[in-house]
Amino acid sequence: MYTPILSPLVWDLGHIANFEELWLVQRIGNREPLRGGLGRLYDAIENPRSTRGELPILRGDECLSYLEQVRERTLEVLAGVDLESTDDPLLSDGFVYEMLLAHEHQHNETMLQLIQMVDGYEPVESDPEPGDEPAAEGPEMVGVEGAEVEIGAPPEGFAYDNERPRHAREIEPFRIDRTPVTNAAFAEFVSETGADPPKYWEPDGEGGWLRTCMGRAEPLDPDQPVIHVSWHQADAFARWAGKRLPTEFEWEAAARGADLDRANLDQLGFGCAPAGAYADGCAECGAVQMIGDVWEWTSSDFRAYPGFQHFPYPEYSEVFFGDGYKVLRGGAWATRRNVIRPTFRNWDLAERSQIFAGLRCAADA
Ligand code: AVJ
Ligand code: FE
Repeated sequence: MYTPILSPLVWDLGHIANFEELWLVQRIGNREPLRGGLGRLYDAIENPRSTRGELPILRGDECLSYLEQVRERTLEVLAGVDLESTDDPLLSDGFVYEMLLAHEHQHNETMLQLIQMVDGYEPVESDPEPGDEPAAEGPEMVGVEGAEVEIGAPPEGFAYDNERPRHAREIEPFRIDRTPVTNAAFAEFVSETGADPPKYWEPDGEGGWLRTCMGRAEPLDPDQPVIHVSWHQADAFARWAGKRLPTEFEWEAAARGADLDRANLDQLGFGCAPAGAYADGCAECGAVQMIGDVWEWTSSDFRAYPGFQHFPYPEYSEVFFGDGYKVLRGGAWATRRNVIRPTFRNWDLAERSQIFAGLRCAADA
């Protein structure tokens, strides 16, 4: 067990397959599970992350062959599904297929959080190099007009239950940073206030910082967005800068028009692009990198939208609603492309920093 805050990688693998077996083979295909007892071991609610290393889960080849057998049965079930003649809400718009893909891809990102902690992993060759994207100059902040904005996902197409129902919210005019906060800016905050540095920063002995991931230490790139900060660090930075974190609704309003295809996602570059890159994918308000590079902490607690109904199961979102979790938006370089959209809501505990999280600040107009 590497860390109590993450699962062993092999638990994630078995869980991905078990989730597919549960929703596709069992629920859609009406078949018995391959191994009856596995469901409990791979239940994320029943088994908190810190306990997963002790479970009698499948390991090594046994786990890989389970993955293969589940996928085989999934394909058999899929071959028999007639989307035209079903009124199962799980199948409408291919919901369950999209959910399974998104679920697998979300766990890919979680697994990468752990891989970053392990010495000796070699980073994947990047293509394209995220640093190849030129950073565009521009104002420090851009304005977003006050308006009644539609928040959340439309009723059709795939989205998680927590993004629905779509509803109107009154937004006061505000300003938001054009780019995510950079390493250089965060280093200044740390040196002026003595605040804790982001995770994976180590002093270089000459007054600067090294980034240490996967057992490798390299000089910190001052121009890249700061990553691996907790909500507390993000909030403290924003206040130090005389600003504040945006609400998740302000964030969504600011992200309007951002080009999902011009964003650093999908672990392609295996790192951040410089702040100001992907300027041609900017949102209507002129903010860049709203999608990709770093998840952005917001000031909002993770709560149900008015009229929320859990679908298809309460353990994805509903059990996490309340004051305990803060909302993050926008996805990171480590986020798989089909997971993210402007309405997507991620959440985590305010003290967590192993996630690919940074920030951008907002201010009243
Ligand atoms: C949306 C990232 C908070 O990892 O707890 C994976 C995603 N839910 N399997 C999590 C999730 C069920 C979820 N987050
Ligand atoms: Fe899961």
